[in-house]
Amino acid sequence: MKIVVIGGSGLIGSKVVKNLRARGHEVVAASPASGVDTMTGSGLREAMEGARVVVDVANSPSFEDKAVLEFFETSGRNIFAAEKAAGIAHHVALSVVGTDRLAQSGYFRGKIAQEKLIRQWGVPYTIVQSTQFFEFLGGIAKASANEGSVHLSGAYIQPIASDDVARAVADHAVDAPVNGVVEIAGPEKSRLSDLMQRYFTATGDARTVVADEGALYFGAQLAADTLLPGAHARLGAVNFDAWFRQGQSRTQAAH
Ligand SMILES: NC(=O)c1ccc[n+]([C@@H]2O[C@H](COP(=O)([O-])OP(=O)(O)OC[C@H]3O[C@@H](n4cnc5c(N)ncnc54)[C@H](OP(=O)(O)O)[C@@H]3O)[C@@H](O)[C@H]2O)c1
Repeated sequence: MKIVVIGGSGLIGSKVVKNLRARGHEVVAASPASGVDTMTGSGLREAMEGARVVVDVANSPSFEDKAVLEFFETSGRNIFAAEKAAGIAHHVALSVVGTDRLAQSGYFRGKIAQEKLIRQWGVPYTIVQSTQFFEFLGGIAKASANEGSVHLSGAYIQPIASDDVARAVADHAVDAPVNGVVEIAGPEKSRLSDLMQRYFTATGDARTVVADEGALYFGAQLAADTLLPGAHARLGAVNFDAWFRQGQSRTQAAH
């Protein structure tokens, strides 16, 4: 089967491409570097010629409120116009668990707009909502940094390894469309501030983690369970310790 992976050069995209190729599919890794730009629409129709499934794991290069909304709205319209022309049978998109509960955040208003377009367009779809990737912990710390410390909510988080995300997305790409949302998450939940402290200890980051109930998450106030999946989520196998060990052995193997 021919499958187009939009954002195929990214963290999740490159792993989805590898996973689907290992299963014998013909996969196009689409990104600006390979001549496919969802913002201008260029290269989309050519990439989708003869394809059956499109997987969208692209992300906005800027997290600024207006830029994110424009990225997901414009990209969505261009992607779906090309999908209609190519007769795509299944659109799989990666979103975030709790997106509907995070409208206070500019980034999540962009994801809400992306999901809305998917539901409206009429191409059979599966929205895979994932919890935060372990690989994103550094990004969360950066967004929450305040001089020498990092202020984080004590809300719960149930992060997942990117390998587990990619496997789940690839599984859905070859399955029938759900025409709804499925959730995926990691095997363990912990408080965001506690997990960040563990991450800092493991990486030797000397900054102080401050558990601060008023701290916002990318502009949104979190309740204890805002970032947690429902009871039917598919759970990944890799917990924090296993993920951290894997990263260290991959780094050692690369040297
Ligand atoms: N971070 C998390 O914890 C988390 C949790 C749940 C869901 N998600 C979702 O997961 C998705 C993927 O995240 P990621 O971390 O894998 O992203 P990433 O590593 O930043 O990769 C983003 C991809 O999008 C591509 N891209 C950017 N602009 C494009 C354009 N105009 N046209 C085509 N492709 C474009 C990039 O191409 P280049 O090679 O040019 O960079 C890259 O391949 C996002 O939609 C995000 O919302 C993230």
